[in-house]
Amino acid sequence: MNALNEMSATITHVIWDNKSLGLRLARNFGCGMAKQVVTTQQLQDWRGEALALAPELSVELDWLLREAAGVEPRILSYAAGERAWELPGELNGGLESLTELWRRHWQAHEPLQYLVGRSPWRRFDLKVAPGVLVPRPETELIVEIAAQRVGEVQEQLDIDLSQGTWADLGTGTGAISLGLAELLPEIVIHAVDCSEVALGVAAENLRTVQDGAWQRRIQLHQGKWFEPLQPLFESGLKLAGLVSNPPYIPTAMLNELQPEVRLHEPSLALDGGEDGLDCLRHLVNAGSQSLQPGGLWLVELMAGQAKDVKALLAVEGNYQSITAHFDLCGIERFVSAVRCNT
Ligand SMILES: C[S@@+](CC[C@H](N)C(=O)[O-])C[C@H]1O[C@@H](n2cnc3c(N)ncnc32)[C@H](O)[C@@H]1O
Repeated sequence: MNALNEMSATITHVIWDNKSLGLRLARNFGCGMAKQVVTTQQLQDWRGEALALAPELSVELDWLLREAAGVEPRILSYAAGERAWELPGELNGGLESLTELWRRHWQAHEPLQYLVGRSPWRRFDLKVAPGVLVPRPETELIVEIAAQRVGEVQEQLDIDLSQGTWADLGTGTGAISLGLAELLPEIVIHAVDCSEVALGVAAENLRTVQDGAWQRRIQLHQGKWFEPLQPLFESGLKLAGLVSNPPYIPTAMLNELQPEVRLHEPSLALDGGEDGLDCLRHLVNAGSQSLQPGGLWLVELMAGQAKDVKALLAVEGNYQSITAHFDLCGIERFVSAVRCNT
């Protein structure tokens, strides 16, 4: 699998959740603006013309209709031609506004998630914005693996990681922290990112997801990897778990990524240095000092890197139970390890 496929767009993983759609649209687009009304026939015609511009993008087109216009495309094919649809206020230019969004995607390659400002991830509806990575569907598994490994550590080492302090390094939208907070309801999480834009988006997601239920358990820090946590380490804190989806694309491969990623997503979130392993090396080496005995180290990486990262962990010498985990496409996408007891 090449880098282009690796970073493929996330729209294949759409939650068809019409109940929350109205709420999402109200939040995104505001309710106070003048609303345009269009008929099913007009929408059908619009869809046909939009599809003719980029016939290979029918899935993306229907995603845009659903998420930006609040129109379920499947209904268009059997709804009566004159049924009226109220477009959300933000589309106050009516179908022309929708055409402009579509043009920005198929012609300028802007990710659809940036255009509507939201991205589904696990069962959350996350805010996204240019400057912060759109959370990928494959990353959803990392929190399941974390929870599974917590169970194994409890069983094999009799160490309980389910009530400790965890770190999510390179938190982006805050997706992984939110997923961990949900699956491990008693942990506290320090979420770090060096990007101010990312932290702003993460802060909003903490406020809105589950009505802010996990806000108090997730603390945001700006800075490089472990640096903002130094005062905590100096006062004796050791982490029960360290989870990260760091930048891991080799620099030379960035130009091969699909245009949505290459032209619009932040290279800070993608560029892993010459061999892609710069950040992963740092997480291996600095991670062992930050973890408690039995603490969990878990990262996402790209196809082909698991072998190298497992070797780095083995050479570092303070990790045991070094394991690669597959994603749903059968790619070794994650590596985990447990901090030795000594
Ligand atoms: C691949 S993105 C992952 C974002 C999010 N965790 C996710 O899975 O969707 C990597 C994140 O690491 C952050 N990052 C890059 N270099 C960093 C550094 N030196 N210290 C902290 N965060 C960094 C980027 O800003 C970006 O948000």
